[in-house]
Amino acid sequence: MSDISHTQWSTKRWAQEIASRLAAGDRQEPLVNVNADDRREFDAIFLGGGAAGRFGAAYLRAMGGRPLIIDRWPFLGGSCPHHACVPHHVFSDVAAQLLLERTFSGKLWFQDLRGKTTSIKDVVEMFRQGRTGPHAFMNYQSKEQLDLEFVLGTGGRILDAHTVSAAGETYRAKNLVLATGARPKNLGLDGQALKGVFNFASLVDTLDYEPGPTAVIVGASKTAIEYGCFFNATGRRTIVVCRNRPLSIIHDGETRAFLIERMEEQGMEFWPGSLTAIEGDKRGRVRAVTIRTPMGEVSVATDFVFLGIGERPNSEEAREVLGVSVDAEGFVEVDSRMRTSVPDVYAVGDLVGAPMEMFKARKGGVYAARNIMGEESHYHLKDYPDFMHTHYEVCWLGLGEEQARERYREVVVLKLPPDNPDGHEVALPAGDRMMLYAMMEPRLSGFQKLVIDGSSRRILGAFHVGYGAKDGFQYLAPMVRNGLTVDELGEMDELFLNPSYFIQLCRLRAGSKVLRGL
Ligand SMILES: Cc1cc2nc3c(=O)[nH]c(=O)nc-3n(C[C@H](O)[C@H](O)[C@H](O)COP(=O)(O)OP(=O)(O)OC[C@H]3O[C@@H](n4cnc5c(N)ncnc54)[C@H](O)[C@@H]3O)c2cc1C
Ligand SMILES: NC(=O)c1ccc[n+]([C@@H]2O[C@H](COP(=O)([O-])OP(=O)(O)OC[C@H]3O[C@@H](n4cnc5c(N)ncnc54)[C@H](OP(=O)(O)O)[C@@H]3O)[C@@H](O)[C@H]2O)c1
Repeated sequence: MSDISHTQWSTKRWAQEIASRLAAGDRQEPLVNVNADDRREFDAIFLGGGAAGRFGAAYLRAMGGRPLIIDRWPFLGGSCPHHACVPHHVFSDVAAQLLLERTFSGKLWFQDLRGKTTSIKDVVEMFRQGRTGPHAFMNYQSKEQLDLEFVLGTGGRILDAHTVSAAGETYRAKNLVLATGARPKNLGLDGQALKGVFNFASLVDTLDYEPGPTAVIVGASKTAIEYGCFFNATGRRTIVVCRNRPLSIIHDGETRAFLIERMEEQGMEFWPGSLTAIEGDKRGRVRAVTIRTPMGEVSVATDFVFLGIGERPNSEEAREVLGVSVDAEGFVEVDSRMRTSVPDVYAVGDLVGAPMEMFKARKGGVYAARNIMGEESHYHLKDYPDFMHTHYEVCWLGLGEEQARERYREVVVLKLPPDNPDGHEVALPAGDRMMLYAMMEPRLSGFQKLVIDGSSRRILGAFHVGYGAKDGFQYLAPMVRNGLTVDELGEMDELFLNPSYFIQLCRLRAGSKVLRGL
């Protein structure tokens, strides 16, 4: 083991260290940053230093406690910067940029990309080089700014509810916080082990060839669609195999239809059905898949298959050694204080199930820390704002129009563009990153909708397709939860031209006692 407790590495030094450790695989000594002079017992061991473990440990430390993080990777921050959110945002940024480039190919200053494919491998390699930057920052911040103690680059083995062994040492604590995350699900087909079948993790870790002209995606939710749009934007034929309706997480039919129409316009193919076989060649590489559709079985030649079919929890060891209760899929069951069924053992993050999002992982860690430090606090997952990417950024919160009409008698909708019987395309919404579309291809300039209860004038739901509204939705969500009305929203100050037109649309109608739609 390498004792680094007395070192003070810069972010540059951390970046070099992490890059060399990732290149060497498992062959390097663990990094141990434990203060041997501190004789206090640890208040908690956080097994897993991803979003949930790191934020939980930082909060517990800030409250005056003593946490220890153990993580098998040589960096803190977990899957988000390494495999998940960060590469997903890189690929979605590329997809948005390529949508622009391809839409205006050969016009203005845009190069002509018609008939050309762009490299997936180059983008993946660019990400692989760049990801040590966030890793290095998180190690630096955790050690030098947040005063966290940690053991990195080695798996921790649970011995009992208070004891974990790692790097040849046995660590004891008053509490154990399980924060071991989740991993991609398998499809259960023999061909899944062939070279050329990827999930979000193996894509960024192992892609070493340029995929051919056809990508086959399985799944129809965030991961599948986000990565599918990226592959499509590179100019490849992209077939999305969906066993159910795609994008059912977006619970407003009109918003969903706008998105699917735009994806289909870019050439994405949504095939209802399932993958029944993945065939390989003599060298063990994928060469074709069989897809069962309502019309019968179809064989598609491809060397590139991507599975975005959800995740399963890393809960096996906790189940076997500690006997923590889990649900039917193996996710660890916790109460609102993040306590498992075993005394002094908590669980947080993806390990406790959907929604698997950063806010929930980080907040779960914080709530565990508060309870461990004697501050009783309950985490109740309320209505939360959500987002995903297609070629666009899509944000939503609250009720969709159909849901609202089931529950309220006077539902009023304010939206852009308006319903347009003669089919003329309206150049609105025209917000940030949308101006070229608005001027030259108005139908591509996004969609936005507010769903309102006409009698109480309260906002019930909001949907936005475009770019740059995600920040606004973070702040809009608690206001909507607290009863924000059309009049209060119309009273706010917009920074015109703004990505979402909600404030000004409300102001246009707020004067009328009987609210009408737009
Ligand atoms: C493709 C994709 C894109 C995503 N994009 C977004 C996004 O844009 N925004 C968003 O909010 N959410 C996003 N998410 C979800 C988000 O990534 C997760 O919710 C979050 O990273 C979960 O954090 P965690 O700490 O629970 O798990 P992880 O970050 O996975 O941390 C678990 C840690 O435990 C460690 N570990 C496991 N077992 C052991 C052991 N025995 N010993 C030591 N260490 C161990 C692992 O090394 C890992 O570091 C995305 C997910 C995916 C799959
Ligand atoms: N914030 C973000 O941008 C972001 C991005 C990516 C992921 N995430 C989070 O990460 C988690 C995982 O996301 P995910 O999209 O991979 O999983 P998910 O939300 O669980 O969706 C899985 C998708 O795969 C389909 N599926 C599951 N098993 C299948 C099978 N055997 N054959 C064919 N299709 C199958 C599901 O279809 P059915 O609908 O029929 O079940 C669904 O469309 C989620 O909690 C998500 O919120 C967040």
